[in-house]
Amino acid sequence: MRREDLLAALRALPATDRVITALDVPSAEAALALTGRLGDRARFVKVGLELFSAGGPTVVQLLQGRGKRIFLDLKYADIPNTVAGAARVAAALGVSLVTMHASCGRAAIAAAAAALADAPENEMRLRPALLAVTVLTSLGPDDLAETAPGPDTIPARVSRLARLAWTAGCDGLVCSPTDLPAVRAELGGQPLVVTPGIRPPGADQADQKRIATPRAAFAAGADFLVVGRPITGAEDPAGAHAAIAAELEVRP
Ligand code: C5P
Repeated sequence: MRREDLLAALRALPATDRVITALDVPSAEAALALTGRLGDRARFVKVGLELFSAGGPTVVQLLQGRGKRIFLDLKYADIPNTVAGAARVAAALGVSLVTMHASCGRAAIAAAAAALADAPENEMRLRPALLAVTVLTSLGPDDLAETAPGPDTIPARVSRLARLAWTAGCDGLVCSPTDLPAVRAELGGQPLVVTPGIRPPGADQADQKRIATPRAAFAAGADFLVVGRPITGAEDPAGAHAAIAAELEVRP
């Protein structure tokens, strides 16, 4: 499936499908209990390193059995042959979004993209989209000075890695609300952007530093939001999810 067709189909999803709930819990049982409280309308969920380490492909299949579509956020960082193999297996599981680090380089991104190009369709009748992570939002200038000394600033590194990932064939990027304007300025409206660090007005910031409200992130060009604690920690997770999705409906 061509990149343009995949991106158009994902962007056509209703707002309720564009708020992805991060199931950051340590067991399959906890994930299933949480999805019960989330209800049927919160259909898109993120399985990250914690839950996948606990539940593996089985938890993905259990969630799919409950009608969920899956953002498999394992942030692959390895040689081309290995990331391509991992992407192929993720696609066979029927997930909708997968992630890798752009810093793996052009050959690894291209190999993963090629592996997904021929992947079987998932329940949306689409192949999985490949998203690249540029600079982790937990890293600041001091970290960069240690890991990659030089004149690079974080915004410059984000822009460069975003361009590399896009030209190597990925479908989009995961980026913080504060990186979003730079990424859109660098690459325009085409790449799919999934944005974490979302906090509704008045919500607890917790450990996130670079945050935005759902409406602001969407207005800045996010296509999907990934939201954890503001939904999963709410007394009424289904209501919290619906309230955030409603914010997206008022896109200017
Ligand atoms: O609870 P909270 O809304 O902060 O959760 C945000 C989710 O987005 C978590 O699952 C976290 O792993 C993920 N994420 C992030 N920053 C990134 C990439 C992913 O916060 N750069």
